[in-house]
Amino acid sequence: MNITFAAPAAVAAGSWVVGAVEGAALLPAAVQADKASGGALTRALKFAAFKGRPGQMVEVLAPAGLGATRLLLVGLGKAEALDEKALETIGAQLAARLLAAGEKSASVQIEAPKGCKVKKGEIAAHLAFGAKLRSYAFTRYRTRNLDEFEQKLAAITLLTPEPAAAKKAYAGLSAVADGIFLARDLVNEPPNILYPEEFARRAKARFSKLGVKVEILGEAEMKKQGFGALLGVGQGSSRDSQLVVMQWNGAKKKSKPVAFVGKGVCFDSGGLSIKVGAGMQGMKGDMGGAAAVTGLMLTLALRKARVNAMGVIGLVENMPGPDALRPDDVLTSLSGQTIEVLNTDAEGRLVLADALTYTQRRFAPKFVIDLATLTGAIVATLGFEHAGVFANDDALVTRLLSAGHYTGERVWQLPLDPFYDKMIKSKIADMKNIGGANSGAITAAQFLKRFIEKGTVWAHLDIAGVAWQDGEQKPMIPSWGTGWGVRLLNRLIIEHYES
Ligand code: BES
Ligand code: MN
Ligand code: ZN
Repeated sequence: MNITFAAPAAVAAGSWVVGAVEGAALLPAAVQADKASGGALTRALKFAAFKGRPGQMVEVLAPAGLGATRLLLVGLGKAEALDEKALETIGAQLAARLLAAGEKSASVQIEAPKGCKVKKGEIAAHLAFGAKLRSYAFTRYRTRNLDEFEQKLAAITLLTPEPAAAKKAYAGLSAVADGIFLARDLVNEPPNILYPEEFARRAKARFSKLGVKVEILGEAEMKKQGFGALLGVGQGSSRDSQLVVMQWNGAKKKSKPVAFVGKGVCFDSGGLSIKVGAGMQGMKGDMGGAAAVTGLMLTLALRKARVNAMGVIGLVENMPGPDALRPDDVLTSLSGQTIEVLNTDAEGRLVLADALTYTQRRFAPKFVIDLATLTGAIVATLGFEHAGVFANDDALVTRLLSAGHYTGERVWQLPLDPFYDKMIKSKIADMKNIGGANSGAITAAQFLKRFIEKGTVWAHLDIAGVAWQDGEQKPMIPSWGTGWGVRLLNRLIIEHYES
């Protein structure tokens, strides 16, 4: 979908989208459209339940006297509540409507209502960003009835008094959309296609011309260096495990990098502790953390972020087989600590353990944030609206909370505590890879904490409830993979870590 910004002008074709605030008070372009159409909007409003609430819509087809083939009046809600996130949601809702209508092009002319804190040009940019996120579709494997899946909405023009400012603001958001789309694509790809080496290849190919340095460590190299935990998970699979290191050096000065580590289990069968029934479905998405990290790196590179950032992803496939990890096996991690594996389905923490050690020892980052579809317990606890955050640094949590409020990718803090740490004591090794029957998301985080070295500022995001979604629960996310995390972490960097 092509997005452009222009100064207000007559709309000669396609849909003309205009706005109203709560109380059905029409904004100037809506008044203008109403007049030009001989009162078509006010007539329609008499028969509609339209109150101008966020996302409400009234549509007039083939309005007399206009070049536009459709008038779409969109509710914006209360001006004071109209922040960036609300504008993006409205942009997504209007795009959904136009997509469903089979519309080919639209001109969106929504002015800043009095009391709205977002700048004029940025209003257009955020509306466009929401529409763009909605326009995502994953159609690679459709071969029949293509017409049904075709996206007909080819172009949206935002009519704004400040097209230059809008264009500038949108440039950064467009880079975020590209990062999100990459993350969604990676999550949506089936696991027979996207296995560890293929994921690594795609990362390398995508970054080759963007100034992101990509290193790939294969099994031989990882074995040499002692990645016993990560390789243990991958040993049951015929696919080779990979560690991908992505570096973006955008800061002017030589400064410590920020680091992001992703769980990349390309398929999680559970291994010998095999998942049953529907529990295995969707486990192609168990690389959602790695996908978000890769998407974030793309966003940073595309918008030339003034930050030094690392992305490290551990890519494996967790499979049963003659060589698979057994419950009762003991692994020696890269950190030197030993782990008694009592359930091979608690594999994500094993992958992350080595990726975290590697990242800290090699890069001594300013902070490390890991993202992982780590536990079913976090889904039982927080559902689909918040990711769980665990951290050893309250300032970083506060920053994540703030970025979450801005973007709508929200996090909720859960505790770390020596009490829970006792639950992963092993009878024969330094720790075991499962806790008890309860507080599973916390014991998983406690496990990761054992691999955080002295002085490292660290946060762990358990994204098992937010990395993918069934149905269309959220207007900005039309697909299964959500790309959750790209927006949040990009915002975190903008607010605090760019020079
Ligand atoms: N990848 C799963 C977690 C998961 C579950 C993600 C549901 C998304 C939806 C993880 O590897 C896993 O299997 N965790 C186990 C841990 C248990 C064996 C201690 C779980 O949560 O049941
Ligand atoms: Mn598992
Ligand atoms: Zn898993």
